[in-house]
Amino acid sequence: MASVADLKIDLVEVCEAAARACAPFVGSGKKDEGDGLAVDAMRERINHVHMRGTIVIGEGAKDEAPALYDGEAVGTGAGIAVDIAVDPIEGTNLFAKDMPGSICTLAAAPEGAMYRPGSCFYMDKQVYPKAARGKIDAEAPTAERLQQLARALGKDIRDIKVFVLDKPRHKDLLQEVYACGAKVRLASDGDVNGAIQAILNMGCDALFGIGGTPEGIVTACAARAMGAEMFGRMAPQKDFEIEACKKEGIDTTRVLTRDELVTSDDVLFIATGLTSGAYVQHVKVGSDANGKFMTTDTVVLDGGVANIRRVQTTVHV
Ligand code: FBP
Repeated sequence: MASVADLKIDLVEVCEAAARACAPFVGSGKKDEGDGLAVDAMRERINHVHMRGTIVIGEGAKDEAPALYDGEAVGTGAGIAVDIAVDPIEGTNLFAKDMPGSICTLAAAPEGAMYRPGSCFYMDKQVYPKAARGKIDAEAPTAERLQQLARALGKDIRDIKVFVLDKPRHKDLLQEVYACGAKVRLASDGDVNGAIQAILNMGCDALFGIGGTPEGIVTACAARAMGAEMFGRMAPQKDFEIEACKKEGIDTTRVLTRDELVTSDDVLFIATGLTSGAYVQHVKVGSDANGKFMTTDTVVLDGGVANIRRVQTTVHV
């Protein structure tokens, strides 16, 4: 039977194409130009993939940036029906400033498997590694959750490190974490990155805080692929978003489990590095006798086999 996992190499090529297209704008200070090129390249390449894909989580509306739109049909229109969540440049500021942690990313799951967040652009997220799965009470106060996490990982709470976006809205959260003696890895942007560092045990033990909903769904696919833990609560921040969520009857008090955010194990998370990060390297440009080339570095988390695959690809451009 056809599975989403069968599409992994095709979908890797989608992220690679987007990364190559926008890479010349890394460090240019121009985030929208780079984003536009990544979106166009992703759209062009994804339409060659043998699937009946639908972008169920795109981006752009929150920041009025270029986007693949929610509901947009992608792929050849034949083959398996697939939900796609995309973020052609996750961390556009990091990209424009050539700071670590900017990626081209997408996630895929069978049709209907991804949670539809409607007009809610922000999600309050908790992500934990596999060892903590089933051992965290998502509704408990921060201090209690950190104790539960420390117990699950067999660590002293002072050795626990949480990734948090450095935003004014996280002032109380930061105080709660510091008050327990736990540590924080702060970053201006890129909570997918933070989540992956927690999922893959890369010096962070959890991600807490409010970030984008598209990034949240992509993260849920990564967490599910690796058997890690995640919770998400819709947390609208902007006035128009709060209004829209009310009209759509979105419950902003309910904490959704990982398996409500994505209901299938047949999931893929793919990320190609734009700038160097904890788990993927930046796009490298070089030249040889055949001309100029670009080398991309991609990580694939595949729920079908719960493994991590690293793909390095060199293409003459
Ligand atoms: P972009 O890719 O849209 O630049 O998102 C970067 C990011 O930091 C995400 O990682 C995070 O989920 C979101 O922005 C948080 O949104 P905001 O910057 O509006 O608080």
